Amino acid sequence: MCGIFGCILKEGNAAPLIHSSLKRLEYRGYDSVGIATISDGKIFMKKDSGKIDEVHKLVNLDDMPGNIGIGHTRWATHGAPLKINSHPHMDCKGEIVVVHNGIIENFMELRAELQNLGHIFVSKTDTEVMPHLIEETLKQNPKLTFVNAVLESLKRIEGSYAFAIMSTREPDKIICARNESPLVLGVNGTGVFCASDIPAFLPITNKAVMINNGEIVILSQQGYEIHKIQDYSTVTRDPVTIEWTSEMAVKQGYPHFMIKEIHEQPEVLRNTLRMQDHYLDLMTTFLDRADEVYLVACGTSYHACLAASYMFSKLAFLPTYPVYASEFVEQHGKSVNIESTLLAVSQSGETADTLSAVMCAQQRAATVLGLTNVIGSTLTRVSRVYIGTQAGPEIGVAATKTFTSQLSVLAQLALRLSKKRGKISQDEMDCLEVNLKKMPEDVEIIIRTQEEKVKQIAHKYKDSKVFFFLGRGISTATAFEGRLKLMEIAYIPSIAFPAGESKHGPISLIEEGFPVVFVCPRDDCHKTLIGNIMEMKARGAHIIAVIEEGDDDIKSLAEEYIEVPKGIPSVLSPIPFSVPLQMLAYYISLEKGNNPDMPRNLAKSVTVK
Ligand code: AGP
Repeated sequence: MCGIFGCILKEGNAAPLIHSSLKRLEYRGYDSVGIATISDGKIFMKKDSGKIDEVHKLVNLDDMPGNIGIGHTRWATHGAPLKINSHPHMDCKGEIVVVHNGIIENFMELRAELQNLGHIFVSKTDTEVMPHLIEETLKQNPKLTFVNAVLESLKRIEGSYAFAIMSTREPDKIICARNESPLVLGVNGTGVFCASDIPAFLPITNKAVMINNGEIVILSQQGYEIHKIQDYSTVTRDPVTIEWTSEMAVKQGYPHFMIKEIHEQPEVLRNTLRMQDHYLDLMTTFLDRADEVYLVACGTSYHACLAASYMFSKLAFLPTYPVYASEFVEQHGKSVNIESTLLAVSQSGETADTLSAVMCAQQRAATVLGLTNVIGSTLTRVSRVYIGTQAGPEIGVAATKTFTSQLSVLAQLALRLSKKRGKISQDEMDCLEVNLKKMPEDVEIIIRTQEEKVKQIAHKYKDSKVFFFLGRGISTATAFEGRLKLMEIAYIPSIAFPAGESKHGPISLIEEGFPVVFVCPRDDCHKTLIGNIMEMKARGAHIIAVIEEGDDDIKSLAEEYIEVPKGIPSVLSPIPFSVPLQMLAYYISLEKGNNPDMPRNLAKSVTVK
């Protein structure tokens, strides 16, 4: 997730406004920043890696002429956060300049095609193919207008994008286009603006024009024109008035970042499916030849590892060992060796315990792989191979969208490894692939249809003194994660364990009215889990069940139930089944008057051991 901004002013320089607007988009990404303007038919550009204020101190982002310009604040997905990878990107002749938010899935083939035509690339980014594509289009069709050259180029692009593009050929225009990544215009008497999000221009104007997927926009001193990319038909759309405050706008109208990020999960899960095959295949190769694989992480990321251990075992017959990072050195420090592989999972890529485990493994010559949300983090620098989860910055301290994005990537790795090893049937593979692709829609349905129900349950049980979270099989990981969410933002003591363990001790804790949350996909454990539910009910527990839609067996036993769509394979179930538990924790936290975004005693990235 990055932030783009562009503007054409009736008077005055564009650079200072672009700089201040990018500051308001920093929550979308902040590992690099860049601005380009046009003045007297010439492009001026300043960019570097680093936070906006750091780069501004170095290069003075305001000091560029021209009343027209574009800017970008980056959250690296392809290419480390280095100056050379920061946006804007240009063509060979320095006549076309582009900023982009999204993922160009076919960038490798486009890059190769353009390189064969003599284009020189200077970055590792997917975005850089766009200015060269427009340049090549104009070279082959010199009579094309700039907007038509952009149109033709867009038809070659696969993936998500919000582009803002300028050219010295038509220096009084900015061309924007959208597919999936957000794009919105701002208008007022002083000029016209385009941005990834409303906060960028809200202090300047509250008149906004929403741009839809498949639309291209021409910005000029006269205002804006919207057309459909497909047939260039004109779209008429008037501005709407935005009633939000600036603070609300950064949260897109949500009261907290956590609930905004819970709601972002369908989009994030679409982005994780746009992972580059090359990186997934490379990591799969390392996993395939490993003698033993440790899955090492802390907190929520550990729960993703726990779920992944079931995925790798069931799909690829690969035994893996999920290990709390804080325990790795004590538990495996002497046994990890050159034949070992360690897959470290860390949203921040900076968790001290996880990095300690990584260092220990490296000192023993083990292979270290990384899965993180922050490209350029320490974990990406120390890993032999790493994959970014593409979830965008997660502001809420409690991990939500980064958890489900980790699970999606781990499931894709397990599936690739299974294919490589020929361990499951083609039908099973097809079913899993179809369901992974459908996952964004399933999560969208859960949020849309179950959020009100979750609010009611949260209100009913907000004063409970303790919660239990139980599951069997892979749902044990989901139960553990639901427990952590509730503890860390609602501060309610919670207990989680495999449901089969109840009779080995924990069931002695159950008293009349205790809420026991069961995670109940309709999988091989379903029948036995019903027995566990009966055990708890018999002792007066109140059953709160997350079930597959229409599961009447469990509906008849539960005081409360939350439904997720039918037919989701068990190995993928932690993704959808964790979403109701995220919402439950959030709404109980609100009921108790807490601030879910900044829970007491916790930090977003625990960089101390
Ligand atoms: C999860 O909601 C917590 N914020 C915390 O447990 C977190 O998952 C843990 O500190 C690991 O962080 P990481 O993924 O950045 O390594």
